[in-house]
Amino acid sequence: MQSIKSFILQAIALLSLQSTLPAQNYQPSAGINARVEALLAKMTLEEKIGQLTLYTTDWGSTGPTIREGYKNDIRSGACGNLFNSHSTTFVRELQKVAVEETRLKIPLLFGFDVIHGYKTIFPIPLGEAASWDLDAIEKSARVASAEASAAGLNWTFAPMVDIGRDPRWGRVMEGAGEDPYLGSRIAEARVKGIQGKKIGDPDAMLACVKHFAGYGAAMGGRDYNTVDISEKYFREFYLPPYQAAVNAGAATVMTSFNDYDGVPATGNKFLLDNILRKEWGFEGFVVTDYTSINEMVNHGVVANEKEAGELALNAGVDMDLQGGIYQSYLKKSLQEGKITEKQIDEAVRRVLRLKFELGLFEDPYKFCNAEREKNTLLAPAHRAAAREVSRKSIVLLKNDNNALPLRKTQKIALIGPLADNKTELIGNWNGAGNFNDCVSLKEGLQGASLQYAKGCEVEGTDKSGFAEALRIAGQSDVIVVAVGEKAMMSGEAAARAHINLPGVQEELIMELCKTGKPVVVVLMNGRPLAIPAVAEKATAILETWWLGTETGHAIADVLWGEYNPSGKLPMSFPRSEGQIPVFYNEKNTGRPFDPNSKWTSKYIDEANSPQWPFGFGLSYTTFSYNNLKATPETAATRGLAAGKQVKIRVSVQVANTGKVAGEEVVQLYIRDLVGSTTRPVKALKGFQKIALKPGESREITFNLTQDDLSFYRRDNTFGMEPGAFDIMVGGSSSEVKTVRVDVK
Ligand code: BGC
Repeated sequence: MQSIKSFILQAIALLSLQSTLPAQNYQPSAGINARVEALLAKMTLEEKIGQLTLYTTDWGSTGPTIREGYKNDIRSGACGNLFNSHSTTFVRELQKVAVEETRLKIPLLFGFDVIHGYKTIFPIPLGEAASWDLDAIEKSARVASAEASAAGLNWTFAPMVDIGRDPRWGRVMEGAGEDPYLGSRIAEARVKGIQGKKIGDPDAMLACVKHFAGYGAAMGGRDYNTVDISEKYFREFYLPPYQAAVNAGAATVMTSFNDYDGVPATGNKFLLDNILRKEWGFEGFVVTDYTSINEMVNHGVVANEKEAGELALNAGVDMDLQGGIYQSYLKKSLQEGKITEKQIDEAVRRVLRLKFELGLFEDPYKFCNAEREKNTLLAPAHRAAAREVSRKSIVLLKNDNNALPLRKTQKIALIGPLADNKTELIGNWNGAGNFNDCVSLKEGLQGASLQYAKGCEVEGTDKSGFAEALRIAGQSDVIVVAVGEKAMMSGEAAARAHINLPGVQEELIMELCKTGKPVVVVLMNGRPLAIPAVAEKATAILETWWLGTETGHAIADVLWGEYNPSGKLPMSFPRSEGQIPVFYNEKNTGRPFDPNSKWTSKYIDEANSPQWPFGFGLSYTTFSYNNLKATPETAATRGLAAGKQVKIRVSVQVANTGKVAGEEVVQLYIRDLVGSTTRPVKALKGFQKIALKPGESREITFNLTQDDLSFYRRDNTFGMEPGAFDIMVGGSSSEVKTVRVDVK
């Protein structure tokens, strides 16, 4: 148990981690442009192209290294930016080359994938999204940024905001799930956390929104695959989180590997120029994904790499990540008149501005203070923040007979390949995290009356451990079995066609269920799984994702009831792979499902509904929703947008009807009953996470704006159409109270 004093100290430290970045697009600060122009005027073409070039260093098992060629490129000014180089010593060594050995002494940017923590590892982003706690999510990004910027870094390739509706796609673990509204709010929180109070503060980094755009819609869930969806659908379901991140001030954007409407994103002028720069007013710079300029040759839209570079620059790509195409070909393309120096200058301006903004010209080593690095990484306040958001990210999927919380008097049989494991806990994209710093589930349960047996591995067919597992199960009051995926089974290039529990884990669970003892399944995984047999047979199920450094403590807090689970799924869990994609905000179709009619939209061998829907999650208490009211109002607006604006005021009485205190995510959905284009049967438009004591009841209000009621209409304009709307409020997308309003 933590002392009160250390708790208060940690609480104070956490408060100072909050950011207050105003929600607005990044805009160059006063005076920056003049400095950029003065520098640009001195640069050779090669030096300009160097600023548009980004190379990786290597992080070998014995320490960081850089290929000699890249080091020479830094010296000559041909490489102006690096990624995968971190720690103050290594970054200082490389920055020294740039500012002491090059003609113009332009400092380097140092980028890295700090996706869910740098040294203190937080839940994987999909898991953290299950907390629906925007403050906690922002704080998590703030801690990650504070740590990474103390280790030499000034740029992270995060947040990843791709909508994920296909759990076969391994990269769903990096995002916030299937919903554009939740995804947008989380995108803003993450950008604010990463960039802190302002770009240029020593504990803040540049954010990079990725992957622009539509990467999550890869066909069949197969990574890097084709994306082809209508523009309306794209704008409604896929684009909002990117825009929200840009509006929250994200300084950079990364292109995606996929094509959109037949044009690879890295060469897609419609995406990069029309939408990002012209419609959204983005003023930062655009970087490619890893060698994605080169890959446009494979896409088959250009004949060779030189043409690929031209397509990218002409579309609006500023920086080439690892492809070396700009370095090798831009000069020739310029000589041939395929691109202009004006375009190169514009891209260089965008990069230099942010280097000035970061304050690197004043102090190129501002992120290289070894003392700060030592004091910041894994600071107690950071671990406390990780534990806090980790337990909020856990989703209670099933709890028959109130098997949970466990009682301290119960004898526990702790079983499963992930029960006494640390190596998998930091998940994929784990920054500079070290799994040895993690608390395992077994460690988290220390002090309990506990016996442990592994039972089996995550993968493979070996069942020789079943006997011992069953033996200790026989001596217990309750069985806790920790199973799931390996960390590297999700993330990039980790699509799975079978999203079940790998190996013989499910068989192990079934054997344990036969004992008749309560079986609590603790899932650790990076995507929704299809596990219908486990859903049916297990007594209780906790979805814990990959929680990172504080895994064992967070799960134990929930198992003991020291924290009442409050997570809600950010992505639907299918019953079987054949249902994929299954998501809550679907359209009604002309033949919506009717159990009494064959000729309706359904499977003959599977339900339409998912195993667990978006927004679902149980608690150790129960909540009631009563007295839902919705009142439309029309207010006149003045000024430029003169006219009428519709608002709907929604109120509902939420009560804790159980015996323990708990948190509930009150979710507000709408349905526009008649639209000039088809509307989803439900669309999330608001949520509030509230805490209620047993017996406590509170009126919760929401104010829907005209934008919330608007959509891309038949004529492609964005706006509202008067008529009937269903307003739905509840604790899950599948359990809502509904009231109908007429909007004039
Ligand atoms: C991934 C990006 C990542 C980049 C740099 C790519 O393979 O798609 O998400 O930021 O590598 O590491």
